[in-house]
Amino acid sequence: TQAPSAVFFIFGATGDLASRKLFPAIYSLYREGKLAEDFAVIGVARRPRTNEEFRVNVRDSIDEFCRYKVKPDEDWDTFAAHFEYKSLDINNVDGFRELNEQTEALEKKFNIPGNRLFFLALAPELFGSVSINLRDGGMLDAEGWNRLVIEKPFGYDLDSARKLNAEINEVFKEDEIFRIDHYLGKEMVQNIEVIRFGNAFFEPLWNNQHIANVQITLSETVGVEERGGYYDHSGALRDMGQNHMLQMLAMIAMEPPSRLMPEDIHDEKVKVLRSLRPYLTPEEVDNNVVRAQYTNGKSGDKELKGYRDEDKVDPESNTETYFAARVFVDSFRWAGVPFYIRTGKRLPVKTTEIIVEFKRMPTNVYLGQKHHLEPNLLVIRVNPMEGIYVKINAKKPGSDSEIQPLAMEFCQSCMIGINSPEAYERLLEDAAQGDSTYFTRWDEVAAAWSFIDHIDNAWKQHPQDVKTYPAGSWGPDETHKLLEQDGFHWWPVN
Ligand code: BG6
Repeated sequence: TQAPSAVFFIFGATGDLASRKLFPAIYSLYREGKLAEDFAVIGVARRPRTNEEFRVNVRDSIDEFCRYKVKPDEDWDTFAAHFEYKSLDINNVDGFRELNEQTEALEKKFNIPGNRLFFLALAPELFGSVSINLRDGGMLDAEGWNRLVIEKPFGYDLDSARKLNAEINEVFKEDEIFRIDHYLGKEMVQNIEVIRFGNAFFEPLWNNQHIANVQITLSETVGVEERGGYYDHSGALRDMGQNHMLQMLAMIAMEPPSRLMPEDIHDEKVKVLRSLRPYLTPEEVDNNVVRAQYTNGKSGDKELKGYRDEDKVDPESNTETYFAARVFVDSFRWAGVPFYIRTGKRLPVKTTEIIVEFKRMPTNVYLGQKHHLEPNLLVIRVNPMEGIYVKINAKKPGSDSEIQPLAMEFCQSCMIGINSPEAYERLLEDAAQGDSTYFTRWDEVAAAWSFIDHIDNAWKQHPQDVKTYPAGSWGPDETHKLLEQDGFHWWPVN
């Protein structure tokens, strides 16, 4: 179904996120007929720019980053006419009043019933004042709905997240706030629910009786690129742990919801996040969490800089670019099952994989060297490859007793013609539809921060204890010990 007709405001319209993700997402939705014909987009940023210049920027971004290309015979101008620009000082409410007039004129032109979606691709420090100026500038007084879509990071810790939330709540109600975690927009993360709750193979086994451990890897080959300023204050735990990693863990560990309604799913996820066993002492943190920073290294023939030599990074920085943790969900279903999570920059491959390792079968029937039985694995490949496979044991053809593990595979991204929508496409569409299922509710954010804050507080007591790993490697040795102490090892990822 088509999203209701609305004006989309992109604050931060001259920034990276807008050009890499948001304009291409809007165009893809348009091409797929998911956007009402009578939509409009207003790009908002400080820099002066004419509507014509802005439309050229939008076109460039679509040409470079969109999975659909503009067709030679397409009427580009008709599409581009839906885009306007407003240069604005976001601290000055008068600009918002002008923006309101511009919006009303556009709403009239395209017959839009006052539905307004505000996407803030801005630094979070600005969310509060923008919300207040939206209200004071009369932007929220139109007839239709108002929705606020905001990017991570949502705060720096639980305290600052609470303050930020209180500021936003002065203007917007929880059901008007859509907090993005773009991992929840990924096709295979959304698929976790169906794999789990739609298959008789898995759900009956989905507990501590049958699952030995779960491993979630989110590895990146990039370094901090041009984001050193932001990243050096954040680090891997905040940048990836508090949000993407814990959200994926929650999708894997949650109980089946009573209905597939957004609130029911949020209720189940928040229960998982509240059940995370907190690490309260520095010893507990040391025993369960490893942090490290990349030093110079190599990828093939390419020399890679160390983190401390990166642009806008403190040359004595102790910020972690990698972390791995052993996490426990203290619930009846998961008691005793470790969840190992790891993420880092400058690792050998770019991949996100979730591996569920099942308990080993009793080996009394198959004793002896030739009968080495590997445990069954369910592997969910999130990106860049999308798919799932199951590792099972079977007889080696032709031999009378040899057993070999083989993979039963479904590769979604290999199938011809399947071109999964980008995360931002799904999320923009869902926000326009008012569906908050794949956004994070405040209590989830808060529970995740509370778990992360304990770790960070312990780290702060010994900032220099960060381990190192050469850029292009799989992280420090300590990360293997986390699993070895439980008799497990990291399964290789693809
Ligand atoms: C972002 C982080 O949330 O996710 C980045 O801030 C990271 O540091 C990015 O590179 C990874 O996303 P994806 O979709 O490319 O795996």
